[in-house]
Amino acid sequence: MPHLPVDALAGKIVIDANNYYRLRDGVIAELDTGSLTAGALFQRYVPGARTVKTFNTIYFEHLVSLARPAGSADRSALPLAGDDDAAKQSVTALLNRLGYDSVDVGATTESWRIQEGSPAYVLPYLSDPRLPWPQDPGKPAGVKEIRTALEQAGSSS
Ligand SMILES: NC(=O)c1ccc[n+]([C@@H]2O[C@H](COP(=O)([O-])OP(=O)(O)OC[C@H]3O[C@@H](n4cnc5c(N)ncnc54)[C@H](OP(=O)(O)O)[C@@H]3O)[C@@H](O)[C@H]2O)c1
Repeated sequence: MPHLPVDALAGKIVIDANNYYRLRDGVIAELDTGSLTAGALFQRYVPGARTVKTFNTIYFEHLVSLARPAGSADRSALPLAGDDDAAKQSVTALLNRLGYDSVDVGATTESWRIQEGSPAYVLPYLSDPRLPWPQDPGKPAGVKEIRTALEQAGSSS
């Protein structure tokens, strides 16, 4: 992230799909203590960009297999967070074209609700949480289920 092209991304919508895994990424104290969200850390590296955090809560193969046309009964939803409402609207339109409804989590400071380990993180899209993700065929999770998962994150904090 320190090598991102700050000037080229200024004013652009940038989708942040990143997650923080301390064993993979090294220890980042502010993320471990919760004083900073991973989304806010990403924003620091691209200060002029219109950052929207999404795609981070779904295993990449499920992102493909669970896509459905608008109006399908088994359409899934993805949560998104960010500080720029117009950017979030554009990303919502993109998700719709890709086969997903969306749920607005709120500002980047609220993106802890969709970080690794939260109820909205990966689990809603798994048919059996005991399976390794690549072996799980995936399960649709609609707007209502994702909203409930986001609320559960709030009640356990
Ligand atoms: N995989 C998933 O299902 C999934 C789902 C949601 C979110 N995420 C999150 O998305 C992030 C990326 O995961 P991934 O699975 O896409 O990883 P990945 O397949 O390993 O891809 C990482 C990409 O970053 C590039 N890269 C790494 N270091 C770089 C550097 N110093 N400068 C420029 N480019 C660099 C790599 O380029 P090269 O190919 O040239 O090495 C590669 O294209 C992670 O935070 C992950 O947790 C992953």
